[in-house]
Amino acid sequence: MSERSQQQTGRIAAHDSAFLRACRREPVPHTPVWFMRQAGRSLPEYRKVREGIAMLDSCMRPDLVTEITLQPVRRHNVDAAIFFSDIVVPLKAVGIDLDIKPGVGPVVAEPVRTRADLERLRPLDASDVPYVTEAVRQLTGELGATPLIGFAGAPFTLASYLIEGGPSRTYENTKAMMYGDPELWADLVDRLAGITAAFLDVQIRAGVSAVQLFDSWAGALAPAEYRNFVMPASAKVFDAVAHHGVPRIHFGVGTGELLGLMGEAGADVVGVDWRVPLDEAVRRVGPGKALQGNLDPAVLFAGRSAVEMKAQEVLDAASGLEGHVFNLGHGVMPNTDPDALTRLVEYVHERTAR
Ligand code: CP3
Repeated sequence: MSERSQQQTGRIAAHDSAFLRACRREPVPHTPVWFMRQAGRSLPEYRKVREGIAMLDSCMRPDLVTEITLQPVRRHNVDAAIFFSDIVVPLKAVGIDLDIKPGVGPVVAEPVRTRADLERLRPLDASDVPYVTEAVRQLTGELGATPLIGFAGAPFTLASYLIEGGPSRTYENTKAMMYGDPELWADLVDRLAGITAAFLDVQIRAGVSAVQLFDSWAGALAPAEYRNFVMPASAKVFDAVAHHGVPRIHFGVGTGELLGLMGEAGADVVGVDWRVPLDEAVRRVGPGKALQGNLDPAVLFAGRSAVEMKAQEVLDAASGLEGHVFNLGHGVMPNTDPDALTRLVEYVHERTAR
């Protein structure tokens, strides 16, 4: 098989899946379900294969990436797989000295604060991430009709790690650059948009069926600042991958006030956290886009009947939508009982079977 037709195989097999149909706002056999962070520490089989292997090292080993990506698909019967990697992988790949510290998150050795620091952010090329291409190809072969979602971090969220040097609650250094040196800020997020678009392009060319742009921390911004300082860079990413024709999902936490703008940036599907009910979210996003979400991940600790009651509330709020992808409002927490996730998938499938 030629490389190109091999790359297309996964997408063709997955084309009529419930997940892709919902992203395109077409009728579905049941509401599709997947979970952000469905692969990871909630699964004992994940903890086992990761033993003694650092997070970023695991992302560079295609066999391990394939195995970890498939684990939640086997266990939970979810409607989509999400590629196992991390938003900081492309930054590492262009030479930024960073690590992922367990229980902390990404930590950058030398934060990016000056114009001279920008020079360290060279463009990303497919040859920088051969392990991504290899793992996506393996995965689309194994997944058959189950779609594979690729992803990347959005410029604002990546910039926040680079500037702060690690996770932050206040984003004081990030906002200091944004408000204090808007030209430097604009150049930084523009470079990051290029890297992010290239990272998504690699995944799409290798065969992923959809992509999600994680602007996890954009909720720290007011709408006017989001529009001025962030939206142009995120729009550049969405524009750059539009010609591939795969659905583009846009997600952030605490972004209730930004939902309209996040859709406008170029998304086909807008991800919603648990703070805004989906019937209100659809009013904020407007017509022509599907929604993804939005069960509070903490509900999974509350016992079966509470999970079902809260999941039903999500389904009821979504009943008028044209396209709904069921998900949590943010990632699966490490202490979540995996059986609660399996039962949740079953519940949503049963309750929405047409
Ligand atoms: O299943 C999936 O969702 C795919 C895998 C995935 C990971 N990171 C694996 C991971 C995805 C989509 C991400 C994206 C990511 N990484 C985001 C955006 C999503 C979000 O949560 O809002 C962000 C902000 C990061 C940065 C990051 N990486 C954080 C905050 C952490 C957690 C640190 C910790 O230990 O609590 C990581 C590490 C990370 N990325 C883990 C996993 C499974 C945990 C590390 C481990 O298992 O050793």
